[in-house]
Amino acid sequence: MTITKTKQPAFHITGEKGWINDPNGLIFFKGKYHVFFQHHPYDTKWGPMHWGHVVSEDLTHWEYLPNALTPADPFDSFGCFSGSAIEHDGKLWLLYTGVVENQGGETFRQLQCLAESEDGITFKKHGIVIGEDVLPSEYEPWNFRDPKVWRYNDSFWCVVAAKKRDGNGKVLLFKSSDLFKWEFVSDIFDKNFEGAMIECPDFNQELGYILLSEQFQPKEEGSLNVHTSRWHVGMLDYEKGLFTEKARGTMDYGFDLYAPQTFEGAPIVIGWLNMWDRNIPSAEYGFAGMLTVPRKICVKNDRVYQTPVVKTNGGEEMSVKGELVDQVVKGVITIKAQGLKEFNLRLRDNGENYTELYLKDNKWVFNRSRSGKEIVGVETDSDSLAGIRRMPCSNGQEIELTIVMDEFSVEIFEDGNVLSSTIYPPEDATKLTLSVKADNCTYLKEDVE
Ligand code: FRU
Repeated sequence: MTITKTKQPAFHITGEKGWINDPNGLIFFKGKYHVFFQHHPYDTKWGPMHWGHVVSEDLTHWEYLPNALTPADPFDSFGCFSGSAIEHDGKLWLLYTGVVENQGGETFRQLQCLAESEDGITFKKHGIVIGEDVLPSEYEPWNFRDPKVWRYNDSFWCVVAAKKRDGNGKVLLFKSSDLFKWEFVSDIFDKNFEGAMIECPDFNQELGYILLSEQFQPKEEGSLNVHTSRWHVGMLDYEKGLFTEKARGTMDYGFDLYAPQTFEGAPIVIGWLNMWDRNIPSAEYGFAGMLTVPRKICVKNDRVYQTPVVKTNGGEEMSVKGELVDQVVKGVITIKAQGLKEFNLRLRDNGENYTELYLKDNKWVFNRSRSGKEIVGVETDSDSLAGIRRMPCSNGQEIELTIVMDEFSVEIFEDGNVLSSTIYPPEDATKLTLSVKADNCTYLKEDVE
């Protein structure tokens, strides 16, 4: 299929053309941030997965590099699925899932493969390094994917998403001294997850958490999406091979966030700014799928706090007395308020189409039902059907709300929480109206340089 890209987000990562999903192999290597991603360059639908590749020095301006991995070898001919990166001996190494179809069903294989690069641009594949001989026989070799690698105490470790034969999602730990020979250590959770599959486990020793993308899990506070990415703060006991969870929460209160991954070498996370089982209207512009802006992570009192990382050119703070009107399609909006009693914001408004954020019962309520092109998901709860998502409001005396707007997305940050959603408004929907009742309120609009 020939694809022509007619539009694209201004500063969010997307494929040069075609489809993208999970961010992969996030690493700071030789002075640059490298972001790889699941990519089908020949269609705006998911298909044979390549690893697309972009680099940046400032986490805002991204440069396209050639695809790093192509599904062209006997061990990954059906796809180069998600994985991670690590620096070793001055080289960049990728651990990813090679998928082979055979005749489908139980003959399908998802096994972990290794690739290396001197320059971080061209990769040499080494084939399977965690195969069926290493995976204990009670797990399905056709549901075994998304390795996340790290170094601890002179060894390499990785967690991989797995599934018990006829059972539930699991996260398995493996150990290696050289990235080539791996041994099985343990199933790191001594409980059964209820849902079908855990994907993209993202353990980080320094931050003390594991992020899990959980498919078809029971609903919990804050996550109405059928597939949800959660943080689990806790400790990994390397001797016992067990992760003890102290607290958990959602990575995002919005419609669109999946498969977040933490950079090797920096406390920064990027996720997929879309969701499985939904249509992606931008396919008609030649691209489907975007990544979130980078988010700086910190963990305080067993809670994950996220703030956006985007380079802006400053701007002038204005005081808001009752109502403020502006024109914005993309940029970063910061609203600070003391003694906030009422808050109503309309974005990307042309009278007929608009996106809303308001405060109700101590929650931020986001409504995209009139944003523009229709997005339909599989969720059947009343909020999802009404285009609504809610996020707790810190409700402190002082509120600082940051909204990162790009042509097809809104990412709302407050008190370390995030609510991210795609929107597909008409081009003339540019008006912003802010109405507040507060003791004091300021508004700042910054352009992304
Ligand atoms: C998560 C996921 C991964 C898999 C990849 C395939 O979104 O399903 O488990 O490796 O996407 O593109």
